[in-house]
Amino acid sequence: MSLIFQVFVFFIFFILDSKTKEQLCFLDKVEPHSSVGDIKGVFHKSYPKWYPARQALRLDPKGKALRDDDVLQNLSVGTSATLYFRDLGPQLGWTMNCAYYWGFAAWLAYYINHPLYTPPSETQVNYALIIFALCEAGIFSIHWSLNSLKCEGAKCRRFPHLSKNPFTWLFYFVSCPNYTYEVTAPLP
Ligand SMILES: *[C@@H]1O[C@H](CO)[C@@H](O)[C@H](O)[C@H]1NC(C)=O
Repeated sequence: MSLIFQVFVFFIFFILDSKTKEQLCFLDKVEPHSSVGDIKGVFHKSYPKWYPARQALRLDPKGKALRDDDVLQNLSVGTSATLYFRDLGPQLGWTMNCAYYWGFAAWLAYYINHPLYTPPSETQVNYALIIFALCEAGIFSIHWSLNSLKCEGAKCRRFPHLSKNPFTWLFYFVSCPNYTYEVTAPLP
């Protein structure tokens, strides 16, 4: 007669703040089949302000963020591990992003299709065309500049920088100013 023992192994996780190393959360009895996304869900219950999309979890405070679909038992950790948490700040969901594009399209359509529509004067058209062309040139410059940042190796990190091209000077304020131009382009 043979006896088959099934051994249930649970994982234990400590979640520390990646900057202060302060312990934020302790999870025991975590199923090995759970994913990083599940951990984020549980962590969110203890910290309602940090919804899963705001969380970055890493095995090494300076390493790569784990993906939501990474399964715990496939990570090369023992049954007890430390995860380092970083708050990514407020995230714009896809509903919010689509709402922006559809909202703008509807707003423009309202004026264009209005029964009292009057065509703009030639001067207005010319000014608008110039502003539009400048914004498009801005978008192009930002994409060009972000594209040239790409570098080899997983550890390689570079930041966008201001160049002689004045369109890139918005990098002083934000890291993806292509959105700034994206917002101003349809206005004219
Ligand atoms: C703006 O640039 C970022 C970084 O390259 C990119 O991820 C994003 O899709 C761009 N947005 C638009 C609307 O082009």
